[in-house]
Amino acid sequence: MKPLIVANWKMNPTTLKGAKLLFNSIKRGVKNVKNVKVVICPPFVYLPLLGGGLALGAQNVFWENKGVFTGEISPTMLKDLGCQYVIIGHSERRRYFGEIDEVINKKIKAAISAGLNPILCVGETAEEREKGNTGKALKRQLVSALKNVSSSRLRVSGLVIAYEPIWAIGSGKPCSPDEAMGAGIFLRKCLAGLYGRGVSEKISIIYGGSVSAKNAASYITQACLQGLLVGGASLEPKEFVKIVKAAVGLVDGCS
Ligand code: PGA
Repeated sequence: MKPLIVANWKMNPTTLKGAKLLFNSIKRGVKNVKNVKVVICPPFVYLPLLGGGLALGAQNVFWENKGVFTGEISPTMLKDLGCQYVIIGHSERRRYFGEIDEVINKKIKAAISAGLNPILCVGETAEEREKGNTGKALKRQLVSALKNVSSSRLRVSGLVIAYEPIWAIGSGKPCSPDEAMGAGIFLRKCLAGLYGRGVSEKISIIYGGSVSAKNAASYITQACLQGLLVGGASLEPKEFVKIVKAAVGLVDGCS
């Protein structure tokens, strides 16, 4: 599997000019990079304005395709703009916008129906980790997000699971590759329990949380994961390009 490196710009940059500058510097920097899939997830408003050359994803989506839902953006709208991916269930959406597991499940199903590749974020809080409840939290989030998603749908969905320990996001305290590996193995076991080994092995599991150029490669080589979800560092083009380059030629050794 080609490593997947996803930039989550969150609510940045604050101007279209800034967004275009960032996009174009990343595009220039990764122009000759082969065998790494780079996906940029900017705020919605910039999606149709950034030009081509790199795959695009959204940071959120609604679960209906159209209708009386003031302020929402639908899966078909994103697909129509050429989006390939959509981040669903990021911990900031869960925390600040009250997204509960059932909402995330609806969004996953809607994204799959529209032909978008969902990037499902799961991760434990510091408290869950301290109490030894990481597995419980991850399983709950995974199982509820995939409720009523059949094996045949999942197989064609291009689903990506992003393991993002909440305590590691934006904290400058990344998860160790060993711990990330443990979470990856656990998530794949859960997927195998739900869908069988064959299907589970085709799903990419990526890591997110204080990723930098320094630690990027370790999540792929040591933790045996298939890519990265990068927040803060994706706003610094030089650093992000280094992260992408760190993934060149790396394949996970776990499957
Ligand atoms: P971070 O964010 O890289 O700034 O920790 C990751 C994320 O929230 O996806």
